[in-house]
Amino acid sequence: MDVADARALWEPAGVYLNTASFGLPPSPAFAELERALDEWRHGRTSWEPWTEAVDRARRAFARLVGAEPDDVAVGASVSQLLGLVAGSLPDGTRVLAPEGDFTSLLFPFLAQRGRNVETRTVQLGELAHSVDERTDVVAASLVQSATGEILDLDAVVEAARARDALVVLDATQACGWLPVDATRVDVLACHAYKWLCSPRGTAFMTLGDGLRDRIRPDAANWWAGPDQYGTYYGTPLRLAESARGLDLSPAWFSWVGTAPALETLLDIGIDAIHDHDVALANRFRAGLGLEPSDTAIVSTDVPGADEAFARAGILAAVRAGGLRASFHVYTTEDDVDAALDALAP
Ligand SMILES: Cc1ncc(COP(=O)(O)O)c(C=O)c1O
Repeated sequence: MDVADARALWEPAGVYLNTASFGLPPSPAFAELERALDEWRHGRTSWEPWTEAVDRARRAFARLVGAEPDDVAVGASVSQLLGLVAGSLPDGTRVLAPEGDFTSLLFPFLAQRGRNVETRTVQLGELAHSVDERTDVVAASLVQSATGEILDLDAVVEAARARDALVVLDATQACGWLPVDATRVDVLACHAYKWLCSPRGTAFMTLGDGLRDRIRPDAANWWAGPDQYGTYYGTPLRLAESARGLDLSPAWFSWVGTAPALETLLDIGIDAIHDHDVALANRFRAGLGLEPSDTAIVSTDVPGADEAFARAGILAAVRAGGLRASFHVYTTEDDVDAALDALAP
């Protein structure tokens, strides 16, 4: 399926340039979700078939980022999953992160300061150079939420490896349009409701070698047991040995929508989506007189953009006078041109 054919699977009502806030579902995902909601409404099934979507989604995500399904834990948000990692760091751990990164990446580490876990922030462009003997963990978003800037992952991984520091990556603004290889880092967390076109409430975390046993399962639950359908009661604590032992018990309907959304994106192919999204972002940049770039998110100051888009019924994010427009598989060249027309003086 190429991108042009795939677009028929989405039904945006107008010009939607706000995937960096939340993505739109492809029709197979919406249909499966509707079906499950209907089953729920009328009490037509037990719940077990809904949970099959969790492992379907886990397998699809593993394929998307080149990981093994056994190395993928699932949860409800990036902050919840990274909270497990941050809470398991030894007292006194020193974390290095970009200044101004998204709070769901920063706060889980900052919240550990009572245990002398110290989080130092530096400018994004200085991150790799700033890794030194005081660094135990480097944590960053692969793509910055506010600006769309892509992390220099090669430089960060090289610097971290030289110091035996862990690399923790938030790929929420990357997975779905940017090819991502989770095996390059120690921890990769991603929420699926943006570029993975899923309902909010489904997140993944991949773990590198040896990490599973270093993370304390603070939200241990019935679902994370060795037998997903047989760990309901009593002691002792028993959890799956794979990363699944860190799973949060699943919010069924969000997962029902997530599995088919991921499978649809894999069918289209992330390389093709990448080329499509970046080409549209660059068409938009050109129309605004900006140099081309390598990202699907365009962040720029356009005076009056908020009102102009509101008048034209175009959805994008406008924050503090800055415009953030994002371009995904369902965006067309006509959408870009309509947005530029709306912004024309
Ligand atoms: C980089 C990044 N990480 C995470 C999130 C969402 O955080 P959470 O999963 O904790 O809701 C966002 C949402 O904007 C984001 O941009």
